Amino acid sequence: MNLFVDTICQRTCHALEELFPAGEWKTSEIKALIEQPPDAEMGDFALPCFSFSKKLRRSPKQIAEELENLLAPEPSEDQIADSEELLPFSRIKAFGPYLNFFLDPETLARELLPSIFQKSSTGDHDTSDSGKGGQGKIREKVMIEFSQPNTHKGFHVGHLRNAALGDSLCRIFRYNGYEVVAANYFGDVGTHIAKCLWYFLNHCDESPPDELRGEWLGELYTKSVQLLETLEGEEAQQAQTEISNLLRRMEEKDPELSKVWEETKQWSMDDFKEIYRWLDIHFDHDFYESDVDEEGRQMVLEGEKNGTFIRSEGAIGIDLETENLGFFMLLKSDGNTLYSTKDLALARRKFDQFSVDRSVYVVGAEQTLHFKQVFATLNRMGYSQAERCYHLPYALVMLPSGKMSSREGNVILFSDMRKQMRDYILDGLLVEQNREWDEKEVEETSHRIALAAIKYGMLSQDPNKPIVFSMEDWLVSEGDTGTYLVYAYVRIRSIGRQVALSVNDQIDFSLLDHPNEKLLMRRMLDFERVVWKSGELFKPSLLARYLYELCRDFSRAYGTCSVKHAGSEALQSARLLLFHCVAEVLKTGLGLLGITPPERM
Ligand code: ARG
Repeated sequence: MNLFVDTICQRTCHALEELFPAGEWKTSEIKALIEQPPDAEMGDFALPCFSFSKKLRRSPKQIAEELENLLAPEPSEDQIADSEELLPFSRIKAFGPYLNFFLDPETLARELLPSIFQKSSTGDHDTSDSGKGGQGKIREKVMIEFSQPNTHKGFHVGHLRNAALGDSLCRIFRYNGYEVVAANYFGDVGTHIAKCLWYFLNHCDESPPDELRGEWLGELYTKSVQLLETLEGEEAQQAQTEISNLLRRMEEKDPELSKVWEETKQWSMDDFKEIYRWLDIHFDHDFYESDVDEEGRQMVLEGEKNGTFIRSEGAIGIDLETENLGFFMLLKSDGNTLYSTKDLALARRKFDQFSVDRSVYVVGAEQTLHFKQVFATLNRMGYSQAERCYHLPYALVMLPSGKMSSREGNVILFSDMRKQMRDYILDGLLVEQNREWDEKEVEETSHRIALAAIKYGMLSQDPNKPIVFSMEDWLVSEGDTGTYLVYAYVRIRSIGRQVALSVNDQIDFSLLDHPNEKLLMRRMLDFERVVWKSGELFKPSLLARYLYELCRDFSRAYGTCSVKHAGSEALQSARLLLFHCVAEVLKTGLGLLGITPPERM
């Protein structure tokens, strides 16, 4: 499927070299520019020429025309047009600042459908070359750090956005040919834990429940915060002292307290493990804040010695005024570490132990300044890799009633959401199946629908825009929802079952000439490009939108081009193959969002 886009890149690259040999043109950069015109009349792919202007010193329109002349030369009078030269394209034409590429529908069908079919039967996927840094080079290694929940706090719906986003990016980057390390970074030290344990040790008279103990700790944390807010005067002072003492004892690794910390931390970890299992999210490596605590302190002390950092009123930090990033605190005056301290050591581990080429941090937008400061500090410390660190910010998940906050306790906890969704699906969407199918399949199907609804809901919005979480809206089977997409998938799959035909290799591709069939194929043609772009721009929302549109195109085509009532067996076979390929593309695409659709419903 990549064939066409790669051909465009290579040929354009050569043409650009002809126009300006010293331009250092790269196919990967050209690839990032390619678009599919919204209107099929304008061709199947378009290359905008704006960004070539600077090097070539002429207008994008002129460049498009010159490229057209090089790629699709007008035959001179004594020469007959050699259409072979254009292959696989039927036409290459400049339209204003764009160079547009056309495929003839039969070529498209002949190139596209068998390759998708083949992949579906072998489970094979040829990953793109670009992530490998071009032919013969080692693959680029990307670490994507995501999820990073804090122990001793409840895991709630808001945390799912990060988890879905990070996981999907890992899948997309892997698909695009990168070597990916999916990393977690658990917040297992800090004030929030002292507060939770303070309440647990001094104010809690219930014993921990048999399950969901991590969530229960989260409730204790919330109660602790609320209790602290009601305290005044001497009582408040005393509580503060007690919490500071706990924090100090934790930093000093006091054996008695360490035991409580280890045990309670495990409760949270057990919860997280179950949550990731249910979410079908997997990590290659787990970091803990407690692991990089001491290392961070040493780095800061060294930095002070060699003059990179300065001491100010007892604390240590770095002056980032020249970068316009203010003063960045790295160690408290009492010698205790900060969030920032640990991030320095964490980054170093990523560079040294994992030799990552690119390091991505999926963290809420409220930490943007923090990461700018961390990366600038690493740079000052001489880590050239700092340039290849990237903070992917994302906006909040809201409830219809407003902002979620575990401090205030107005959150939907993961376990509640999971239960509610299950009930809602079993009582609503799967009532009939519930009567007829065995229990295991019903459970499995409801689980898959729930995952589709949540992950699509979390991913279909641009990371920069806030999301309002609404279970009811996301479980609607019509409209822009994950639920709709899995319904569409099941519907497409059932076509193959209704018509007992096998796809043979004597398909007559010229029969697929209905405009809706052509549009559907044109959409499928665009799949690899969209996945590529979704990764490079860190926007799984592009892929989500694409899949939604693919389903719409399918509905339209299926409405006009029935398999059952196709006039001939040859047409039936061709359409069957076409729709089979839609299901395959849809399944692959959903898989990249972390969604596995059920096969029947
Ligand atoms: N656990 C942190 C929090 O909840 C997020 C950690 C982000 N990653 C990092 N390397 N600082 O705010």
